[in-house]
Amino acid sequence: MKTMLNVALPKGRLGEKVYAMFEKAGFECPSIKENNRKLIFENEEVGVRYFWVKPSDVAIYVERGAADIGVAGKDILLEYRPNVYELLDLDIGKCRMAVAAKAGFRDDPQKTLKVATKFSNIAATYYNSQGRDIDIIHLNGSIEIAPILGLSDVIVDIVETGTTLKENNLEVIETIVPISARLIANKSGFKFKSEQIELLKNSLAQQVKDKAQ
Ligand code: PRP
Repeated sequence: MKTMLNVALPKGRLGEKVYAMFEKAGFECPSIKENNRKLIFENEEVGVRYFWVKPSDVAIYVERGAADIGVAGKDILLEYRPNVYELLDLDIGKCRMAVAAKAGFRDDPQKTLKVATKFSNIAATYYNSQGRDIDIIHLNGSIEIAPILGLSDVIVDIVETGTTLKENNLEVIETIVPISARLIANKSGFKFKSEQIELLKNSLAQQVKDKAQ
């Protein structure tokens, strides 16, 4: 029997794009396309098992070895610093981590800046590097509301199209870092299943190259 490669995929639109790339790389698993609520799919012939997990949980499965590999956003990798290998930038799921505030906001450097975010570590590292004194307000979603209600001065959040900011009268002040989806691997899984992982990685890298041309 073939060794099974365990893959954590981020549930949602990004995960579907990722699966299409894996399929093209020869790791197909047709049952995954059946529209049901199952979360685990496998193809023994090819030697692959996929799990759909919450995008922000992919790195946890991979770090702890429940999955050998997975695809996670750079935002999650920067925020949680999981002990995994980052193998490849897949050049999809592109967005940026940015600071935003109400249109016309002026920062007063004399005052502690109130920052609402889901990405407390990214925000702390960023402002620390600038020597700016901040107060972090950790939220779990709908971050855009915070400056509108006066809960914070600014937000640190993901901006993709900019629509959410625009519709809430907010604007980007600074971009902190560009974000995209990354192929990650468990450190010992990478050793023991290196042949399969290298094969997959090389095909994905080629697909990224072809797309760029
Ligand atoms: C992210 C982010 C913004 C939105 C930005 O939320 O927090 O709300 O996307 O996208 P836009 O620039 O294209 O409008 P996401 O949908 O990932 O989930 P969340 O609300 O749980 O943060």
